Amino acid sequence: MKNNALIIFGGTGDLAYRKLFPALYDLYIFDKLEKNFYIIGIGRRDYTNEDYRSIIKDWVKNFSRRAYDEEKFEKFCLSIFYYKLHFMELEEYKNLYNYFNEMNLSNNLIYYYAVSPEFFEHITDGLAKHSDILKESKIIVEKPFGKDLESAQRLNLIFKKYLDYKNIYYIDHYLGKEMLLNIMTIRFFNTMFNGVWNNEFIDNVQINVFESIGVETRGGYYDKSGAIADMLQNHIFQILSIVAMNEPDTFSSSDIKDAQIDIFKKLRKINSKDIDDYMVLGQYDGYTKEKNVNPNSKTETYVAMKIFIDNERWKDVPFYVRTGKKLHSREMSIIIQFKPTTHTSKMLAQNYGNGDLQQIAENNILEIKIQPEEGINLRFNIKKPGTSDDIDVANLNYCQSCDAQNSINSPWSYERLLEACMNSNRTLFSRWEQIELSWKYMNEVMDNYRKYSNKLYVYEQGSKGPAQAEKIIGKDGRKWI
Ligand code: BG6
Repeated sequence: MKNNALIIFGGTGDLAYRKLFPALYDLYIFDKLEKNFYIIGIGRRDYTNEDYRSIIKDWVKNFSRRAYDEEKFEKFCLSIFYYKLHFMELEEYKNLYNYFNEMNLSNNLIYYYAVSPEFFEHITDGLAKHSDILKESKIIVEKPFGKDLESAQRLNLIFKKYLDYKNIYYIDHYLGKEMLLNIMTIRFFNTMFNGVWNNEFIDNVQINVFESIGVETRGGYYDKSGAIADMLQNHIFQILSIVAMNEPDTFSSSDIKDAQIDIFKKLRKINSKDIDDYMVLGQYDGYTKEKNVNPNSKTETYVAMKIFIDNERWKDVPFYVRTGKKLHSREMSIIIQFKPTTHTSKMLAQNYGNGDLQQIAENNILEIKIQPEEGINLRFNIKKPGTSDDIDVANLNYCQSCDAQNSINSPWSYERLLEACMNSNRTLFSRWEQIELSWKYMNEVMDNYRKYSNKLYVYEQGSKGPAQAEKIIGKDGRKWI
């Protein structure tokens, strides 16, 4: 019997160690890996299988969801192998196929491109040059797909030439996050949210993706990408399109993707001379001293943006988004801020809420917490208990991750997505069109930025990012929440 396998290009990289192997170990523990399934890490270093397995052991111990079990790990290890390859050398792929034969591999392979996008083309060429099994294999491609529109389109042509479209899995691990998957249920199965999900009731939407870590060991990759290619063009645009999409006709993968794509088509162009009112880029202090980062680097580690969607539902509702590294905390949330009620607006017009009269209601806020806590918080107005008629704010909090059982039952993103790919389920993967449209939009924004602004603000590590980001929202009379 032939062996099926997952082949990881970038097998000695941060992603493989930190995310993929712990996820694969969890799948193994939950009995979700086939019996004859091999995992082959490919890298440029001189490791034996034993060296490789012992490195992986430490990462699995620290990062897998299930408690580490020595005996089970030893068994899991028997399916892990290491193969040394200089993946820029096309001739070396001939030996790789010989090795596959020695390992008695089937043609049912999954290649995982866990490397910088600049290598995607070489790897595909190398694999295609010496065998035609690539057409039958699945391929998981990490983001960012390309570094701009042109490079992404070029890669797409190469992929089209050698691969069957249905076998390409564009991975965006945010699509595997529990609360992101929950957004559609919260929206479309609750009248109290679904009925008000539009510009009549919503004042603005904010998407916060804060990271406390810096570039760690990934300086080489990150310095060529920056926050826009690393987080905004993919993760944040996925979130935005899920929050904003119209109700899909059905909940099939293809209808959901169509609804998301409609949003990408409606992103409003930014007038070149206004670019500073729409985008702020920052770099954390000390970034240029990080390993493998150019000491004169102008790469952004922070981006804040204001985005409009020109459709009926969202006419004139700003979406404020921000993400950055080395910020005050690790936290991701979506904030839906509602408009004031007619009564509150009247009071505001009469200048209530100033001076002694504190009788002013706050705008309702729905916060969807994606991580580290998973849950929802709803802020609404109540009468202050007691004899006064003052208004107070109450919070209804639902913490999904506080229930240990929920955490045990929820696979982590990579676990969920690897399993989906093994089962040929494409629902949680991006479509090429999404990638292309988001690059198209960002390309234009970046061209304008370079021409008319090109500012990069240095911010303190552990802070909330550059102070200038306050202006984007402050100018509209609003605040980041
Ligand atoms: C990755 C980015 O896609 O997402 C990293 O390349 C980032 O730079 C990571 O740190 C964040 O993922 P998570 O799941 O920790 O929010």
